[in-house]
Amino acid sequence: MKFSHNPIMVAECMDALDVKQDGIYVDCTAGGGGHSQAILDRLGPNGRLIDIDRDIEALNACKQRFEGKSNVTFVKSNYKDICRVLDDLGIDKVDGIMADLGISSYQIDNPERGFSYMESTAPLDMRMDQSVGITAKDVVNTYDERSLFEILKDYGEEEFARVIASNIVKQRQTKPFETCGDLVEVTDKSIPAAVKRKRGHSAKKTFQALRIEVNKELDGLDKALRDMVSRLNPNGRLVILTFHSLEDRIVKRCFNDCQTDCICPPSAPICVCNHRAVGKLVNKKPIVPSAEEQQQNSRSCSCKLRALQKL
Ligand SMILES: C[S@@+](CC[C@H](N)C(=O)[O-])C[C@H]1O[C@@H](n2cnc3c(N)ncnc32)[C@H](O)[C@@H]1O
Repeated sequence: MKFSHNPIMVAECMDALDVKQDGIYVDCTAGGGGHSQAILDRLGPNGRLIDIDRDIEALNACKQRFEGKSNVTFVKSNYKDICRVLDDLGIDKVDGIMADLGISSYQIDNPERGFSYMESTAPLDMRMDQSVGITAKDVVNTYDERSLFEILKDYGEEEFARVIASNIVKQRQTKPFETCGDLVEVTDKSIPAAVKRKRGHSAKKTFQALRIEVNKELDGLDKALRDMVSRLNPNGRLVILTFHSLEDRIVKRCFNDCQTDCICPPSAPICVCNHRAVGKLVNKKPIVPSAEEQQQNSRSCSCKLRALQKL
């Protein structure tokens, strides 16, 4: 299957990243290389790009796309290990880092990856890195009901989390889950028809929740962002695209902390945190895609761009 992904807010990301010709940049979520391409277009011969992705298929697509470009380095890794990646490359600081969080259209559209509730016979996998970790099938076949409920509620913001979790546990007693279709059958019967008509596909929130759990998308995100900031040169930029409120909240809080001198609770009589601002927001409010982009690419609709400049 051909790797296809429409990069979102490319011009806005490049403005926020403020690419310098001779700088070193990291694309933490290279995907199909759309944003990387835009960075490369702005780099001169002495500039350098590090492309990271945890998905080998994405990284291979980028290698193919940028074949012959000597100033790109490809690293299969989790961006949470950015410090190790840069240490291994002998790079102390960089001029800009971007991360376009979540999954690519290729991952959603490729039935073998098991991310799509539209692919009824696809294996229930959902791992971005298929060489490690548990699959969505493992989660629904082995987690206890309470854990399933909490995942659906917290990561999917699913109002029918309790009944879906209960029906998952009932279902697997007769037949363990194998395919995306098996799970859709359960969400379909757990959500009242009137609600389904209003909010679209019954499995949308459940699939989002499982994907976040399988890939541990929120665990350690705050620490990863702080590590990224720590590896920026003065005036270097960190640009993050988020796609749902859970990850956006983490980015927003982290960036606010980064630009605040003291983060003691308001009740503390004197500062005991010794925290000092390390950056400032590039834009006070998050940037969202234009109405035109949202119309052309429905996957862009929930996207928010936040950027921080290192002091
Ligand atoms: C939305 S896509 C990026 C698309 C890319 N900006 C483009 O223009 O084609 C997200 C990519 O990030 C990767 N990814 C998600 N979480 C990751 C993580 N923790 N570490 C490394 N890569 C990750 C996914 O495998 C996926 O390829």
